[in-house]
This record gives sequence, C-alpha cells and structure tokens, in this order.
Amino acid sequence: MDHNKLALPVGTTLDRFIMRKQEDFPYATGELSQLLRDIALATKIVNREINRSGLIDIAGAYGNRNVQGEEQQKLDVIANIRFIRALRNGGEVCTIISEEDEEMIQTGNVQGKYVVAIDPLDGSSNIDVNVSIGTIFSIYRRVSPTGNEGNEQDCLQTGTHQVAAGYVIYGSSTMMVYTTGNGVNGFTYEPSLGEFFLSHPQITTPKTGAIYSLNEGNSNEFSEAMTAYVDHCKQQGYSARYIGSLVADFHRNLLKGGIYIYPATKKAPNGKLRLMYECNALAFIVEQAGGKSSDGRTRTMELEPKGMHERCPLFIGSTELVEKAEEFMAREYEAATAAALK
Ligand code: AHG
Ligand code: MN
Ligand code: MN
Repeated sequence: MDHNKLALPVGTTLDRFIMRKQEDFPYATGELSQLLRDIALATKIVNREINRSGLIDIAGAYGNRNVQGEEQQKLDVIANIRFIRALRNGGEVCTIISEEDEEMIQTGNVQGKYVVAIDPLDGSSNIDVNVSIGTIFSIYRRVSPTGNEGNEQDCLQTGTHQVAAGYVIYGSSTMMVYTTGNGVNGFTYEPSLGEFFLSHPQITTPKTGAIYSLNEGNSNEFSEAMTAYVDHCKQQGYSARYIGSLVADFHRNLLKGGIYIYPATKKAPNGKLRLMYECNALAFIVEQAGGKSSDGRTRTMELEPKGMHERCPLFIGSTELVEKAEEFMAREYEAATAAALK
C-alpha cells in the first residue's frame, strides 16, 4: 500500500466539481448547477431506499401498469416521486417527462428554464434480485418563453439539444456519471459521508472492444442482418455480457469497450428502449467519451422525436464496433430499398 496516498486531500465532491465547472462558463447563472445538485440529492434518497428495499416491504410489484403497459414496481413509483419532488422544489425545471407518467408533468415553476426527461429507475426487473439498477436523465433548455408552463415543443427536442445528461448506477458501489458537453466525469458515492466524490475524471471509452451485449433470447425475432452481426461477434471471439439493466450494461461497456444493442425485432419494430429518457442521454455521454450511438443507421441524437414515449433501436458503444454493426444493417437497408423499388 502506498502510504503517501493517505496524505492526499479527501478528493473533489460533486458539489464542488459542479461549482468549479460553472466558473468555466462566464455567463452561467448557476441554474443548471443547481438542477444537477437537485438530481444528486434525489439520487441519494433513492439510493437509500434501494439499499434497504429488502427490509421494508418496498420490493416487488406495485400492482399497476405504466404507460408502456409494463408492470410498475414499488421502487419505480418511489423513485419517480423522489425525483419529481426534488425537481419541483429546486425550481429550475418547468416540465418533466417521466417513463412512469403518460403526460408531461408541470412542476408549477413557470420561470424554470429547463426541461428534464427521466427514467427514474432503469432495470426494474432486477430490483428484487439484488442486481444493479439505475437512473437516466436528459436536460434541455426550454424553447418557449418563461412565464408559462412548458409545452410539447419544449419536450420533444432532438438529442443534439441536450445541455446535460447523466445516469446513476446503483451497483456494487453507487456512481453518478454525467456530461454537460465538455467530457464525461464519474463520481462514486461515499455513504458514510453522504457525498459523491470524483473518482473517474474525463472518462474516455475504448475505440474498440470485445464485449457484445444484447438479449439473445429474442434471436428468433431478429432480422437476417442482425443475426449475421451476432454471428460475426462470435467469430471474433467476443464475450457476451447482458445484465438486463441498460445502465449497468452501458456502464460496463463504456469503461471496458464493447457494444450494446437493443435491436428492432419482428414483434417490436422500434425495439424496446425509449428515445427521450433512455437512448438520448446515453448517446450524449458515449459521444462525449469518444464512442458512438445510432439506431443502426441514423445518429441517435439526430432522431426526430414524435412522442414523449417513443421507442427506437439502439446500437451504442465503442466506435469501431458500432460502425461494423451499422455496415451489417446497411446491407439490410439497401436490400429492402432495392426490393421496394422493384
Ligand atoms: P425499465 O426498467 O426502465 O423499464 O427498463 C428496462 C429496460 C432496460 O433497462 C434493459 O436493458 C431492458 O429493458 C431489458 O429488456 P429485455 O428484458 O427485453 O432484455
Ligand atoms: Mn429503463
Ligand atoms: Mn424505468
């Protein structure tokens, strides 16, 4: 053990880091910083609920279905309430899009300059079995004037307009990873101090990797190109890794290099994942870390959202792997176009 390390300062807290970053933007008013701190606060509360979920009857199903027709877990509902409350109290956000609410949520903060899209709890099928879960968020500046509630135009901006995005992974340790468009930084939670500390400064993702992550149980539903790409991964000797929590699968691949895919299937032609509060945030982060994200053809952040709960296929991770997968998908697209022209 290097004893000199014990003499080092305790490290940079998330709050201090956010404050310092704000100084880099001379005209910043501090509202975005406050908003990020509000999210971090809710995260600590959600982390506490998750950690004791086995003890206080908050694991398991809530007895309701959300807008996607998926069974809500109690922790989905709790996390949703916690984040909405923090954003409402914080005052910087006028409107929220949440996986758990069909309509946009008006916070009542009509002077708020920001809109947040959030998946309060991602990977909820893993809650009851002690497997990593997460939270995903995107932040946009509203386009309508302040003084009124946010509207659809504010909520349906393309991913390129995100001003910040991040995720929290509740895993073997709890981490928050975010970007404001100037690189990606990761913070690890120290529960005894109740603080996030900078642990992963300036994350960059490897250009290539040897992990592929997708639900191969759906392979009967894959297109020919998709099946061919999975065969290619096997021929390359890649390892298959699939947790079934997008945040956890993404986080591993971001650090180690790899590709995560949730493709279109015959049953679900737009895949499963949601553009506004799953795909765009991770796309912004991966690009800021030097990686790539698309729906197999179009850059994720350039997809035009038509609805708040819209789904899209997701190919995300190391640039070389995503580009290779896109090559396979392009053959399929060209064949379909040729067939349509006949
Ligand atoms: P959520 O819990 O927010 O509804 O998200 C579940 C998502 C995502 O986390 C995960 O990668 C994917 O569903 C897993 O889907 P399959 O079970 O179809 O593989
Ligand atoms: Mn999710
Ligand atoms: Mn969710």
